[in-house]
Amino acid sequence: LLINYKFVFNGYHIIRQYSMTKLIICNWKMNLGSQNSIEFLNQIEMAASNKDNKFIVCPPYTSLELVGNNIKEKQSDWALGAQNCSDQEDGARTGDISASMLETLGCQYVILGHSERRQYHLEDSKTVKMKALKALQHQLIPIVCVGETEEAYNQGKTQEVLKKQLEESVPSKQCVVAYEPVWAIGTGKVPQVEEIEETHHFIQSVLQEFGFSNVSIVYGGSVKANNITEILGQPSVSGVLIGGASIKPESMNPIVSKLSI
Ligand code: PGA
Repeated sequence: LLINYKFVFNGYHIIRQYSMTKLIICNWKMNLGSQNSIEFLNQIEMAASNKDNKFIVCPPYTSLELVGNNIKEKQSDWALGAQNCSDQEDGARTGDISASMLETLGCQYVILGHSERRQYHLEDSKTVKMKALKALQHQLIPIVCVGETEEAYNQGKTQEVLKKQLEESVPSKQCVVAYEPVWAIGTGKVPQVEEIEETHHFIQSVLQEFGFSNVSIVYGGSVKANNITEILGQPSVSGVLIGGASIKPESMNPIVSKLSI
């Protein structure tokens, strides 16, 4: 992707073009169990990663090993990620999966603090930070999700909410931050690209305040084939996190082919 980057220097409006590898993170959520995951991947043209885009597929735990092997068999450079991990190293945590287990399976990334986990599992930002630290100890790059609710958005409290979430949940600059407005997830509603750009700049400035510079910030929430190019075209957008559109061949293949051009 060639990105147009406009800025003002000494009163001149300057337009620069540059290319940047964008992260295309596919969050399958609680879909595509073991058998279905392979059937799905067999219908996807996976040789699509190139210098412009890096695909990261995040299946449910039970499909991780199969999907990881399938990616390798196809000699695809898609990377593997998980959707959560424990904040503990090991021990008496019934039902939990540790970062070390994910590392052993070949995961390189882990999504943490997704709004569905914050909502349905009451995960708070402090727990998310502990999970991110544990992930980093095991060579996993945490994808830390933040985002305001519709109510906060309507009250003009987006920046306030994001600042608190970032402060409490991002432990280091080795993370990817995913900006996912809760009201845009699975709803078909997407902020204007100018709004995304502004919010990403805000996130970048907050992270810089904490001493974390050059953190990759991806956008998530109703990303589809018809809006992905415009969203990825924003200079502050380092990638996208795709949910619903990443689990069906008829919505995923158009995304893959758009990005392969
Ligand atoms: P969506 O989900 O693409 O279905 O809106 C995004 C996400 O929750 O990560």
